[in-house]
Order: sequence, then structure tokens, then C-alpha cells
Amino acid sequence: MTLYKNTVLDASDVRDYFKRTAASFDDLYGADQQAKSPFDRLFRKAMYWRFELTLDALCDGKGKNYLDVGCGSGRHATLLAERGAHVTGVDFSDEMLTLAKGYANSCKVGNQVDFQFGQFMEWASNKTGKFNAAYALGVFDYVDKPVEMLTEMSRLAEQVIVSWPTPSFPRSHLRKWRYEKAGCPVYFYKQDQVEEIHKKSGLEIKRLHTLGGAGFWTLAEKSQLEAK
Ligand SMILES: C[S@@+](CC[C@H](N)C(=O)[O-])C[C@H]1O[C@@H](n2cnc3c(N)ncnc32)[C@H](O)[C@@H]1O
Repeated sequence: MTLYKNTVLDASDVRDYFKRTAASFDDLYGADQQAKSPFDRLFRKAMYWRFELTLDALCDGKGKNYLDVGCGSGRHATLLAERGAHVTGVDFSDEMLTLAKGYANSCKVGNQVDFQFGQFMEWASNKTGKFNAAYALGVFDYVDKPVEMLTEMSRLAEQVIVSWPTPSFPRSHLRKWRYEKAGCPVYFYKQDQVEEIHKKSGLEIKRLHTLGGAGFWTLAEKSQLEAK
């Protein structure tokens, strides 16, 4: 499903990368972007689009239970908690989880979020029950088995929201080069691959938005055939 082959790097490299870079990743949400590189500014734009689309889709949060897969520094979880939702966040970077807890507490919604440590597939393996929605933003960029992960998310939630980075010259080449230099694999998806991954995961795409040439944002539900 990936355009580029990542033969050497794997999930433990992703985890190590986000342990090392948690603080600088969270800076991308900060107000002062003047000093950031053009790459960071471009990346930040797509981050805001996916952020806005997700908040808009899940804004009616009162009484809802959401699952934030790869919750990072907890920005989405906290905003949704501020709108009345209860959010469970899972991440395998404890540095990110520390930032997430601190941010939720500073926004006074610490009691509506539950940030848990774990590699998502392992964490999910002993979970049952249903969330109203599960979302993974900026996470499938680093997932080597997207069908397995999407299938597991849809097992646990009625709606599934995901952002997908797309290959585009020269942006994805530069990103690939930059991340691999830092020891982290990164994956890109064309639209037909995104559609195929959903199909194989038994999901039907209800909404698909482009993120300004940087990727796609999808909202999906179990396909009618699967639901029967
Ligand atoms: C680019 S950050 C995005 C964070 C957050 N979703 C956001 O949009 O602000 C990716 C996060 O996903 C986490 N992550 C990646 N793969 C994961 C996995 N298989 N299980 C748990 N966490 C994962 C990383 O540790 C990192 O915190």
C-alpha cells in the first residue's frame, strides 16, 4: 500500500522518534511560527485543516466517547473534552502523554480525558465495547499495516476518522528523506490506495477531503454489507 519501501525501519523506530521529538512536535501547535522552516509551515497548514475537519465532525461532543489513536500531545482530545466529550487517548510515547496530561489539566478538563500508554494494536487487542468515534490524525503516516489498524479502529468505534499523507513531488520526497535521516519510517497514500484500505477494512467512506495537496481526511463507517 505504500509508495516507498521502508525495509529497515519499523514501529519501534517510530516510537523512539516520537520520544525524542515530542516537545518540538508540540511547538507546531504554538503561536510563534515565524522561526519555523518552510517545511514546518506547510506541514502546520495541513495539521490545521485536519484539526478543523475533525472538530467540526465531532463537535457535538456532549455525552460522547471518543478514542484518539496516537493522541500525541493531546490537543484534539482536550478540545473535544472542552466540548463535553470523554476522550481516551492512546500513544506509545510517554513524553507525548506527559504533554497531553499537562495540557488537558491546564485547560481544566483533566477529568474528561484518559491518556493511556500503549502500542495501539496491542492496547486494542483486549478491548471490547464501542466508542462513538475513533480518530487517528497524523498517525497513518507511520503505520506499516494500515488495513489491520483501520480494521481494529472500526471494531471499537461507530465512526472512524483518519488523515492520510499523499505522495507529491517534492514535498513527500523531502519529508521521506528528512524522517529517514532521523530514523523514522514514513508512508504515503494515493486516493485509490486510501479507498482500497477502507474497503479491505470493511469500511465505507462517507466523507473525503483533500488537505491542500498534502493528503486526505476521511470519515468512514462500517459498510452496509459488513454490518449485516
Ligand atoms: C505526528 S504525531 C500526531 C499526534 C496527534 N494525533 C496530533 O495530530 O497532534 C503521531 C503520534 O502517534 C503516535 N503513534 C504512532 N504510531 C503509534 C502506534 N502504533 N501506537 C500508539 N501510538 C502511535 C506517536 O507516538 C505520536 O505521538
